[in-house]
Amino acid sequence: MATRKFLSLVVLLVVSAPASYSLPFIVLHGIGDQCANKGVAQFTQLLSDWSRSKGYCIEIGDGVWDSWVMPLQEQADVACQKVKEMEELSMGYNIVGLSQGNLIGRAVVESCEGGPPVKNFISLGGPHAGTASVPLCGSGIICILVDNLIKSQIYSDYVQAHLAPSGYLKIPTDIPEYLEGCRFLPKLNNELPSERNSTYKERFSSLENLILIMFEHDTVLIPRETSWFGYYPDGAFNPILPPQQTTLYTEDWIGLKTLDDAGRVKFISVKGNHLRISQSDMKKHIVPYLEEKPEKLIKKNVPCQNGFHQLGISR
Ligand SMILES: *[C@@H]1O[C@H](CO)[C@@H](O)[C@H](O)[C@H]1NC(C)=O
Repeated sequence: MATRKFLSLVVLLVVSAPASYSLPFIVLHGIGDQCANKGVAQFTQLLSDWSRSKGYCIEIGDGVWDSWVMPLQEQADVACQKVKEMEELSMGYNIVGLSQGNLIGRAVVESCEGGPPVKNFISLGGPHAGTASVPLCGSGIICILVDNLIKSQIYSDYVQAHLAPSGYLKIPTDIPEYLEGCRFLPKLNNELPSERNSTYKERFSSLENLILIMFEHDTVLIPRETSWFGYYPDGAFNPILPPQQTTLYTEDWIGLKTLDDAGRVKFISVKGNHLRISQSDMKKHIVPYLEEKPEKLIKKNVPCQNGFHQLGISR
């Protein structure tokens, strides 16, 4: 009898200890934003409160300014270094990416050597397949001039080294220039036939869940379907190809098809303009992936309970 009680206690400990542990998550903000801003801070806090998982906004450089001017590969290197140094993430973590932050997050997943494992990747309005317009200041005459100037030089070394979004500006009618001059996205998406890195694919396709959230009224990302890895065909501005019809998908350059075939990609569409997510959509589409699922914990622990579990905690 005493032994039985003791064993029950052991079982209780084995089952309950990991249950109190839930995976932390990091938030990677978008361009022109920073962790200290109210929006990002509140977003991180709400997700943390609702999921009961610890959330950390990862800042790169000084925030707003560096999000514009630091080349994305450098931003990704900073993020990689930070996640490696965070003891809290060492057992694994989830990523919540906002807009441009998604590309940094994806670079961390695909290429951060020695980084802790990423389980779920939740992407809000990510320019995953590129964007055909610089998110500048609007439609005023100065903006149009600046926009045109940048567009004509976008793949030059100078612009590539000084304007972060040039790393994922993909003009469908300038594909050879893009592949040759753009320093970030072609590599991240394994678009260069001679430079495909199978490690990127291996690591990206090992995600447990990839949640791709597109904003139905997104006017910042051109086309908005890039949030789902949809894009224009090479050479033309139409039609917009759904993700499954892009070469990135059909030839499975980074493992998107592998993930999708395994049922691990969720293509979600929500109302609103770029990053204007409602609290109910956050609860519906993000929080479930940040919460540790009790069933999963018990399943994971089955081997540890060998021979013990018949005693039953309830006795
Ligand atoms: C592929 O990417 C990994 C991870 O970043 C890197 O260690 C490796 O050197 C790359 N391989 C090639 C052939 O570039």
